[in-house]
Amino acid sequence: MAPARAAVRHLPRAPRAVVGSNVPRREGLEKLTGRALYVADLDVPGAWWGVTVRSPHARARILSIERDLGADGARAVVVTAEDLLRAGRDNVVHLIADDQPFLAHRSVEHAEEAVALVAAPTREEAERAAARVRVRYEPLEPVLDFERAETIHKTCAIDKGDVAAAFAGAARVVEGTYRVGHQEHAYIEPNGMVAWPRIDGVRLVRGSLQCPFYVHAALTRLFGEPAEAIRVAQTSTGGGFGGKEDYPDLVAGHAALLADACGRPVRLLYDRAEDMVATTKRHPGRIVHRTALDAEGRLLGMDVEVLLDGGAYVTLSPVVLSRAVIHAAGPYRCANVRIRGRVVKTNTPPNGAFRGFGVPQVAFALERHLDRVARAAGLDRVELRRRNLLADGETTATGQAVIDAGASRQALDAALKRSRFAATARAHARFNRRHAHLRRGLGLACFFHGSGFTGNGEIRLASEVALELLEGGRVRVLAAATEIGQGTRTVFAQIVAQVLGLPYEAVETVDPDTALVPDSGPTVASRTVPIVGRILADAARELDAVLARRVGRPPGRPWTRRDFAGAAALHLDAGGERRVTARFSNPSGQRFDETRYVGDAYAAYAWAAAVAEVEVDLTSFETRVLRVVAAQDIGRAIHPRLAAGQLEGGLTQAVGWALFEEVVARDGRMANGQLTNYILPTAIETPPIELVVLERPFAHGPFGAKGIGELPMDGGAPAVVNAIADALEIDLDRLPATPERIAAAWLAARPERRRA
Ligand code: MOS
Repeated sequence: MAPARAAVRHLPRAPRAVVGSNVPRREGLEKLTGRALYVADLDVPGAWWGVTVRSPHARARILSIERDLGADGARAVVVTAEDLLRAGRDNVVHLIADDQPFLAHRSVEHAEEAVALVAAPTREEAERAAARVRVRYEPLEPVLDFERAETIHKTCAIDKGDVAAAFAGAARVVEGTYRVGHQEHAYIEPNGMVAWPRIDGVRLVRGSLQCPFYVHAALTRLFGEPAEAIRVAQTSTGGGFGGKEDYPDLVAGHAALLADACGRPVRLLYDRAEDMVATTKRHPGRIVHRTALDAEGRLLGMDVEVLLDGGAYVTLSPVVLSRAVIHAAGPYRCANVRIRGRVVKTNTPPNGAFRGFGVPQVAFALERHLDRVARAAGLDRVELRRRNLLADGETTATGQAVIDAGASRQALDAALKRSRFAATARAHARFNRRHAHLRRGLGLACFFHGSGFTGNGEIRLASEVALELLEGGRVRVLAAATEIGQGTRTVFAQIVAQVLGLPYEAVETVDPDTALVPDSGPTVASRTVPIVGRILADAARELDAVLARRVGRPPGRPWTRRDFAGAAALHLDAGGERRVTARFSNPSGQRFDETRYVGDAYAAYAWAAAVAEVEVDLTSFETRVLRVVAAQDIGRAIHPRLAAGQLEGGLTQAVGWALFEEVVARDGRMANGQLTNYILPTAIETPPIELVVLERPFAHGPFGAKGIGELPMDGGAPAVVNAIADALEIDLDRLPATPERIAAAWLAARPERRRA
């Protein structure tokens, strides 16, 4: 890879910096004034309501489906798997393994699986009719405990060096087992789609989604129709967090099947309860560590087993597992690493993408484990990490030499300094001696996150973007990347404006529509800025070159708005192309061996350290997070305020996952599918968050930027739980750290307290 310093050399100077400034958020005003249209706001004349009939059983044979709807259902239509097959549809949600049906056929594999669809002119009629669809089941024994599940969706392995020899020569071996639970995305807007029947040979679907071309691919497969016969457009979307990465494929397919059946547009809008029980969650997991150390506390060997609960269908589990395995050894130097990953099938709704995509699970395990390792080695936990963190040019578990790995140490130093770690620890010790029932503690976690698709994923995706010249010297960004609350539209306009040296206002952005934008890939994997933003910068440079050539001036100089408009008019009058396109080019020369899991797993990593300070009340065992300090190297903040929002939001979700959020399942069904008893952090539980943003430029990111969407989610939970463990001098090896679990660990550590 080229040295990091190359990052800024090829960039034109702009009259004023657009990148790096807090320009007004592109869609901010329309959201603030209520003009933004979410899918539920669409006024669709003549649209019917769709309702999904779901399985009450975790596993069962379907014996029969009776659709005698009586007078209630006089106007309703019903669609089952049989109807779909009769109509020649392909009953497969196209993704990785293609094992999930749109509608269960002959058997159900998880509770809440869709068995039939109903549409009627009103919501009430549709619901009454759905209640009259009688499905007879023969219940079968479900597999609900992933630790005992035997059907494997996917395995994944890393081998580096000689692990057996490392353990044979170790001064000390430390073992630990760590468990994490589900997490609900709790985006503010539930899933929803409106589908139109085929009009002039085209089916249109509009709705809440992250990945328009995933939905497009799924519908193309379902209907067996050519790409141009399917059109998918995003409506304003109230959050995704990975929860709208693949699930909207299913909702869109259902809505389109119903629109087909009734010959009218159909809206399929989930309410909160349906969204919570039926849609994807973060994968629960069990991670086992065996760690070999030398006499000085250096990591000699790491042996890690990652087990994830995939749920009933494969969906995105193979790639979640792959990312988990690649990040399982953390940002640490270790010459001998063996990682074995497995994601297994259970009869629960499929688990899917959730911010961090497998990394929060393994980061929790490793950072909890390293506190235990430090104790066993008689080393301070900071010193243990400092001794083992990767330095510039050292290699990760896949043998990838990372030029900027030393940012990890910078992040650690910055987090320690800002939190006044040592002084705060001393203050806590004094506090704990003075208080009978309050205990304060400090926790630390170091973590990293690869930007973009894993391995050769970006090369295969071959993402494409376009810029379009508009009247008056305006430019429109055409990309499939979605605005889901994180700021895509704003940062894209900033990047293009900065490259061209135009004002921010001269660049337009749109919500993607597959009929209008090229496929720049899904809005996932912290790839929007470093990957798509980079291609956009390339497109902007190309546009600059085209227009500069047209008017005979050297390229790479900022335009005045008037000169730009003049050049654009000249270009278009002369019959020049209105659009320039650019495609992913693997600028870093990334190379990855996908069978051996060796090489450049990601073009870039963002590096971070977090410190959490907590207070635990020994009467209720409730934890208050007093503050979180996080230092993160993100390459470059394109929009500092939006970047800070991403970092704060991710840390807050991590605090929720660490302390409160617990999916309670009964017979494979989520029993607490309401926001009244699935507890999220509110403003009261959200701690003060102090950020240190480090900007060590990534040579191949736009203006040096790396991906930051997922990183902050990765390390917050271990920092918080390490702080609880520190406060109470206990071991906590399971998330969430609820008062019940903390109390149990406290009592287990101090048997004499049972009688007190
Ligand atoms: Mo994301 S969890 O890669 O949508």
